[in-house]
Amino acid sequence: MKFFVDTASRKEIKRLVEWGIIDGVTTNPSLLSREEGKPEEIIRDICEIVGGPVSVEVVATDYENMVKEGRRLASLHEHVVIKIPLTEDGIKAMKTLSDEGIRINATLIFNPIQALVAARAGATYVSPFVGRLDDIGHDGMQIVKQIVDIFTIHEIETKVLAASIRHPRHVLLAALAGADIVTIPPAVFDKMIRHPLTDVGLEKFLSDWKKASKSFDS
Ligand code: E4P
Repeated sequence: MKFFVDTASRKEIKRLVEWGIIDGVTTNPSLLSREEGKPEEIIRDICEIVGGPVSVEVVATDYENMVKEGRRLASLHEHVVIKIPLTEDGIKAMKTLSDEGIRINATLIFNPIQALVAARAGATYVSPFVGRLDDIGHDGMQIVKQIVDIFTIHEIETKVLAASIRHPRHVLLAALAGADIVTIPPAVFDKMIRHPLTDVGLEKFLSDWKKASKSFDS
């Protein structure tokens, strides 16, 4: 399972890319609106930093303008993937743009049938929003599991990108559900690597070593 970062913060992306485990980035209009500067510059910078797929969402809602905006955003950098919401106009735009060879991330997916439709429209990725379903009392990860099962049964190549991740347990469950990718906010990455027993264990190893006054040959 690949890890994407769910942010438009260049600072956070740089920090996490240094870990060496990041394959891509997902942004959305809310995330981009929080950053200073021109969106186009931010997008190009992110593409250069991550060197992999960077999802950028269209803000147009009608077919013609979604297609126009999608083409323009895709021309910003070879790593740009166009995020399109699962609406009637969105499906048509997905089909047109994917036929032109532009990669699509179908976003705001809340059930497996929406994912199936997006795959038929040529989407490279489908993004089921796990946390937002959990927020209203549903089991968001069940949707991920069902999409993975459907795509496996029907040999559909579209990648399942688990999104709207709130905590490390979501990452664990996405891995168990068979998601291809999980897009994770920076704060959740930080929580994923922490364990109190790791800190206690390290402290003990180092104090034992120091007490014995040992050292490795340099
Ligand atoms: C996905 O690509 C979206 O950017 C994101 O995961 C939405 O998550 P949220 O529910 O935390 O806003």
